[in-house]
Amino acid sequence: MDRTLSIVKPDGVKKNVIGEVISKFEKNGLRVSALKMLHLSKEEAKSFYLVHKERPFYNSLTEFMSEGPVVVMVLSGGNAISKVREIMGSTNPKDAAPGTIRAAFASDIERNIVHGSDSLQSAAYEIPFFFSALEIM
Ligand code: RTP
Ligand code: MG
Repeated sequence: MDRTLSIVKPDGVKKNVIGEVISKFEKNGLRVSALKMLHLSKEEAKSFYLVHKERPFYNSLTEFMSEGPVVVMVLSGGNAISKVREIMGSTNPKDAAPGTIRAAFASDIERNIVHGSDSLQSAAYEIPFFFSALEIM
C-alpha cells in the first residue's frame, strides 16, 4: 500500500468541485487518510514546488497556487501514486483522457484543478510538507 499527496488547487476550490475530485479518488478505490484546507503563501508555494524552480512557469505557478485556498490530502491504496496520476489525467487538459479529472474540469495547462505526487521520492517530500505523522490515519 502506497501513500500519495494530492491537492485540489485554487481553481478547483473556486469551481466548487472539491467533492467531485475526492469522490473520483474514492470511487477508484483510494482512501482519504488525511485532509485539510489552507491558503498557501507565495513563499510556501515556492517551497512546495521547489523542484520546478528553474522552469519558466515557476513564478506563474506559485502565484496561482497561492491565489486562494487549496485542499490538501493524503490518499492511500495499492499503487496510489500511479493511480492518482491516472485519475488526474495529463497536465494539459487538451491531452487528458476522457473521464479524468483534468479532462472534466481543467481550464488550461496551468489551471488544471489537481496535483498528485509523481514518485515515491516526491510523495516522501510532499506528505510531511503538510501533515505530521499524528495527522495521517
Ligand atoms: P502537478 O505536479 O501539479 O501534479 O502536475 P504535473 O505533474 O502534471 O505537471 P508538472 O510538470 O509537475 O507541473 C506542475 C504544475 O505546473 C503548472 N504548469 N504550467 N505553463 C506551463 O507550461 C505549465 N506547465 C506546468 C501546472 O499547474 C502543473 O500541474
Ligand atoms: Mg508534478
